[in-house]
Amino acid sequence: MENTSPKRASWSGQLAFVLAAAASAIGLGNLWRFPYLAAQYGGGTFILVYVILVVTLGFTLMTTEIAIGRMTQQSQLTAYSKLHKGFGPLGLLATVIPVVIVPYYCVIGGWVLKYFWTYLAMVFDPSADPIADAGGFFGGFIGAPFAPFGYGLLFIFVCALVIALGVKHGIEKSNLVLMPLLFVMAIGIAAYVVCLPGSGDGIKYYLVPNMDALRGADGAFSPAQLAKTILGAMGQMFYSLSLAMGIMITYGSYMRKTDSIEKSVRRIEVFDTLIAIVAGMMIIPVVYMFAVKTGTPVHEAMNAGPGLMFVTLPKVFADFGRAGAFVGAVFFLLVAFAALTSAISLYEACVASVCDLLGMKRRNATFFMFFVIAFLSVFSALGFGVWGKLTPFGMDFLTFFDFVTNAVLMPIVAIVTCVFVGWVIKPKAIEEEILKGEKRFVARGLYNVMVKYVAPVLIGAVLISEICRNLGIGNWKI
Ligand code: PFF
Repeated sequence: MENTSPKRASWSGQLAFVLAAAASAIGLGNLWRFPYLAAQYGGGTFILVYVILVVTLGFTLMTTEIAIGRMTQQSQLTAYSKLHKGFGPLGLLATVIPVVIVPYYCVIGGWVLKYFWTYLAMVFDPSADPIADAGGFFGGFIGAPFAPFGYGLLFIFVCALVIALGVKHGIEKSNLVLMPLLFVMAIGIAAYVVCLPGSGDGIKYYLVPNMDALRGADGAFSPAQLAKTILGAMGQMFYSLSLAMGIMITYGSYMRKTDSIEKSVRRIEVFDTLIAIVAGMMIIPVVYMFAVKTGTPVHEAMNAGPGLMFVTLPKVFADFGRAGAFVGAVFFLLVAFAALTSAISLYEACVASVCDLLGMKRRNATFFMFFVIAFLSVFSALGFGVWGKLTPFGMDFLTFFDFVTNAVLMPIVAIVTCVFVGWVIKPKAIEEEILKGEKRFVARGLYNVMVKYVAPVLIGAVLISEICRNLGIGNWKI
C-alpha cells in the first residue's frame, strides 16, 4: 500500500503513466459529447479544428500541469503554494473542481450501470425491451426516489476500492485490464457499424468536412460561425483531456523523473482523440441512418448528451433486431469502463489532495472522501425526481454543477495557471523539469508563445462564450 509520505507513490513506468492519463481523459466526454459536437459543427471541419487545438493549446496546458506535478511532487491543492506562496488559493480552486465533478460524474456512471444491467437481461430474454420507448424508461429511472442514488453509490464504491489499493496496485492495475477491453469493444462496435448496409451516407456525414456549418443564415461564410466552432472545440478539448482540474498535476506527481513528459503528452493526445473519433464512428452513422429512415431531421436526432446516449441510441439498437440487446450491452459496458477510469482519476485528485495537506493515510483519505462524494451525489441523483423543483439558475443540480465547473471554474484555473507559469515562475522552470527526462524540448518555441500570450486570450474567450451559452445570452446554438 502506497502512502504519500515519506516516499511518494509512483507509476511503474512511462507506459503506465500514459495509460493512466489516457484512461482519465477517455470518458463520457469522448463518447457522448464529441460525436454530437462533430455532427453539429460540420463533421470533418470540426474534427480538423479540434485536432489543431489539441496539439497546440491542449499540449501546452497538459505539459504545464504534468510538469508542475512532477516538479513539486504534490497534488494540485499544495503544488501551487509550494512554487509560490501567493498562489495557494489557485490550488484550492483547482481542488474544488474535482470535488464538485466527481459526485455528478458518478451519478451518470450509475445510469450507465443501470442500462448495462437492463441490456444484459435483454440478451437472455430478447422478448423484453423496456428501454426503446422514446424516453419513458430513462425519465422514469432518473426521476425515481432512490434508484439513481443507489446506482451512483455503487459506482462511487467501486472507485473507492480501486483507489484504496494505491497508485500501482489499484489505479495502474485496473487500467491495464479496463483500457485494452475498452479499445477492443470500441473498435468492434465501430467495425460493426461500418459493415451495416447503408452506413456509407452516415459515415460521409460524419467525416467529410461540411462547409455549410460555417455559413450564416444568409448562406455566406460567417466568421461568427467559425468562432463558435473553435470555441465549441476548445470547451470540448478542456473537458476531454481532463485539463484544469488538478488531475494531471496529481498524476504527474507520480511520474518518474527519467520519463519523457513531452512524448507522454503526445501519446495521451493520440489515444484520447482516436477514441473520440471512433466513438463518432459508433454513433453518428447509425443515428443518421435511423433519422433518415424515420423521417426525423438529422440535426434533431443528433441531440446532446444524455438524450443521445440514453434515449436515441436505445431506439437505434432496438432497430437492429436480435443483435440490438447484445450491441447495447457491449456499448454500455464500454461506456461504464470509460466513465469508471475517469471517475477514478477525479476521486484520486481529491484523495491525494487530502493526503498531501493533512498527511493522512491513503486508506483513511479514501474513506473520508467516500462520504463527501456520496453526500454531494445526492443532489445530482435526486435533482430529476424528488428535488426536481430546486433549480439553481434555472438548471437541475447536475447541469448546474457541470456549468459551474466547466464553464466558469475550469477556464479561470487554466487562465491563472498560464499567467502563473508564463509570467511568474516563467516557462524556463517548466522546460527545466521537462529536460530531466529528455535531451530536448522539441516544442519549446510553441510552448512559450502559447503559455504566455495565446492560451490566456483563447481561454478567456471560452470563459465568456461558455457563460453566455449556458445562461442563454446571445445566439449560442450549442
Ligand atoms: N475527460 C473525461 C471525459 O472526457 O469524459 C472527463 C473527466 C475526467 C473530466 C476526469 C475531468 C476529470 F478530471
